[in-house]
Amino acid sequence: MNKTAKGTIPRSFIEDLLARADIVQVINQRVPLKKAGTNYKACCPFHDEKTPSFNVSAQKQFYHCFGCGASGDALKFLTDYDGLSFVEAVETLAAMNGMEVPREKLTQKQAQQQQKTRDLYDVMHSVAKFYRQQLKSHPASAEAKTYLKQRGLTAEIAKEFVIGFAPPGWDSLVSNLKADTILKQQLVETGMLIQKEDGKTYDRFRHRIMFPIRDGRGRVIAFGGRVLSAEEQPKYLNSPETPIFHKSVTLYGLYEMRQARQQVNHILVVEGYMDVVALAQFGIRNAVATLGTAITTEHLDIMFRQVNEVVFCFDGDDAGQKAAWKALELALPKMQDTRSIKFLFLDQGEDPDSTVRQEGVEGFQNRIQQAMTLSGFLFKGLIGRLGSPVSTVEGQQQLIALATPYIASAPGAMPDLLTKVLSDYVDVPVWRLGQIMGIRVSSTKQPSAKKKNEQPVRIKATSIVLRLIRLLMLRAHWATVFSDDLLQDLQESHNAEFRFLAQAIQVLKQNAYISESLESWLGEANRAHVLKQVYAIVIQENEAFIENEFKAIVLQIGSELKKEKDKKTLQKKLMN
Ligand code: UTP
Ligand code: MN
Repeated sequence: MNKTAKGTIPRSFIEDLLARADIVQVINQRVPLKKAGTNYKACCPFHDEKTPSFNVSAQKQFYHCFGCGASGDALKFLTDYDGLSFVEAVETLAAMNGMEVPREKLTQKQAQQQQKTRDLYDVMHSVAKFYRQQLKSHPASAEAKTYLKQRGLTAEIAKEFVIGFAPPGWDSLVSNLKADTILKQQLVETGMLIQKEDGKTYDRFRHRIMFPIRDGRGRVIAFGGRVLSAEEQPKYLNSPETPIFHKSVTLYGLYEMRQARQQVNHILVVEGYMDVVALAQFGIRNAVATLGTAITTEHLDIMFRQVNEVVFCFDGDDAGQKAAWKALELALPKMQDTRSIKFLFLDQGEDPDSTVRQEGVEGFQNRIQQAMTLSGFLFKGLIGRLGSPVSTVEGQQQLIALATPYIASAPGAMPDLLTKVLSDYVDVPVWRLGQIMGIRVSSTKQPSAKKKNEQPVRIKATSIVLRLIRLLMLRAHWATVFSDDLLQDLQESHNAEFRFLAQAIQVLKQNAYISESLESWLGEANRAHVLKQVYAIVIQENEAFIENEFKAIVLQIGSELKKEKDKKTLQKKLMN
């Protein structure tokens, strides 16, 4: 999360670090281990289990779970269990072992820059400490404490989130931190002081409840400050972007979530600071908030490094719907493997804070259980945008067009699955939707009526069946005149051409009477010759003419089938 310039970490250092570090100690601090022979054992922290199949070998400095296959070294454990980036894991492990992480090829300028940012973290740390003290001891802090109490926050949770109080007054930081010119400049750089044109500075945050925002390693990088009364404006003030704070890669509550060390199988994304803190107070420790901005792809990457499921929780209002849609658009391309997203819309005017207080943990968890799925939300949203109802041809056509870019943006098996859902709405088969949308779906081949060892049919060039198929390719929906009874007679006919025709009509029937389905069925290997024959037939493009010809052929087929039937009945009579 820290974007400051740093040299790369030398490979040799990582090897030294792994040699010095003890994986048993690293894991045991997080997951208590039991000795078993030369190894150590525990219930696997990466999957749910009742008997321990997670093994740690001190000798090999390696862990392996026989249940879920999770395995790796100490760094891998830190990245997966603590949700750290690789560099963060290296830094954490180095700190545990009293080692300084060296960096290669750092220019002098880079080195200076690094020192400067390191100092900025120290500055923010002192500021957070100061605000925390003020909440306890400032003469005006009673009001702040009352406010927090009235919002239902306990002292413990306030401590855990390091919630503080920025006193009223314009000069609290400089005077209390006894800031010299350098510190003053750093306070400006971190956004804690605002510098006027004449060079004078004043506190950005005054008379506010302060929420420190921490990065993945727990360092304070910014603040959010809330007013104490409804009269003051704006309700929340956030730190600006600074060399150590980048909203687009920061999630409020993520560090605190990791610290809680509960097994989380999903992360809940909420909108406000208070939501995260209130949920934590109720024991729901997996909530994070974006900082007054829309969710970004970086946010998604950070969360999917830790969990496979992200649940977005929004207000039920228009703004919430819009924000959810944006999240959906960003998340769809990331839906590989077992990842999933869900959407939870709360009642109008309610947020997670108010909801959990009204309904309790169980009520809130129930809502999460019933959250909307990705496909449910996607299609609901798309259908909401149609100009015509989805029951109409126009609506369905629009739905296909609107859905295409979304389905196309999804990875893995998603396009197939979403296309299947789409086909339920639009009455067009999956394989055909794949063609229309230009997306490869698993059943690009339409279902064929052919049996495996079927002999290729021979059809005379002058056959009426051939002509009928030619006409059906022009007017596929005319195939609807073949009733089920008629179709059955065709199927049972001793005439191979008729049986072939029955198959062709079946194909159309199964594919919503789309002529291309017939064309590509005919194009398959053992029928390709028929397709050629069909193409060779010249039809006069005259509506009345082709309609008459079609009727004539159908009548002729009907009478031939009748003859066949009569013959059969006669034969039966004679046999008896
Ligand atoms: P809300 O207004 O929904 O805040 O804004 P909330 O968390 O429910 O606050 P409480 O319960 O009234 O204390 C959600 C988030 O939007 C950002 C903040 O990050 C806030 O947590 N926001 C809101 C601002 O940045 N500025 C504002 O003036 C208001
Ligand atoms: Mn709220």
